[in-house]
Amino acid sequence: MRNDFEKAIHFRHACKLFDSSKTMSGEDLTFILEAGRLSPSSFGMEQWQFFVVRDIAMREAIQAVAWNQSQITTASELIAIAYKKNVRSTEDYIRSEFEKFNYPDYLQNMYTQWIDPRSDDGLECWSSRQVYIAAANMMSAAASIGIDSCPMEGFDRNAVEKIMGIDTSVYGVPLLIPFGYRAQEQQPRLRSELSELVTYL
Ligand SMILES: Cc1cc2nc3c(=O)[nH]c(=O)nc-3n(C[C@H](O)[C@H](O)[C@H](O)COP(=O)(O)O)c2cc1C
Repeated sequence: MRNDFEKAIHFRHACKLFDSSKTMSGEDLTFILEAGRLSPSSFGMEQWQFFVVRDIAMREAIQAVAWNQSQITTASELIAIAYKKNVRSTEDYIRSEFEKFNYPDYLQNMYTQWIDPRSDDGLECWSSRQVYIAAANMMSAAASIGIDSCPMEGFDRNAVEKIMGIDTSVYGVPLLIPFGYRAQEQQPRLRSELSELVTYL
């Protein structure tokens, strides 16, 4: 298992060039989406939504506002990772999550005291942090079955949300992830040494 995961994290790279002739199976897509669904989130609030963008014209329009990055249209699937904006404890969605998990009062109170007072921007920041965890799991899951990905923030977010017809009072789309198959070998990976990154206290 350790070897499998090691292989996956070495396989994964930010794929710059996809082979547009290769398509992934629906089963593989579901496997990747499941990795997102089963990801951890603060209080288990699952404040993510995954939009699978298949419409060709929509993908071309997105590419045009994403520095013309080719991955948007050449990857087999494009998943837009969205977070929910309205996550105060008064929201129906949050109340239904409390019910689903049968959260005791003390946890609901903790949520109300810790999360609710945040500014709208602060709440969006908190929610988007959760969806990046799901995104990372999805890319690792993809790598474990030989599927490439590229996390992408390089796009005009307002324009992309408009093109996708997102209700921006409900969702924000901070990240796009194309998934598919590399068209060329990955470049050697440049990383700092663990000794530079880890501090033992
Ligand atoms: C949040 C985030 C946004 C990124 N946005 C882009 C992007 O718009 N286009 C792109 O080609 N790569 C993008 N990348 C990929 C990074 O450039 C890449 O992960 C980094 O250089 C390390 O390389 P590796 O992933 O191949 O190890 C992004 C990565 C992250 C985590």
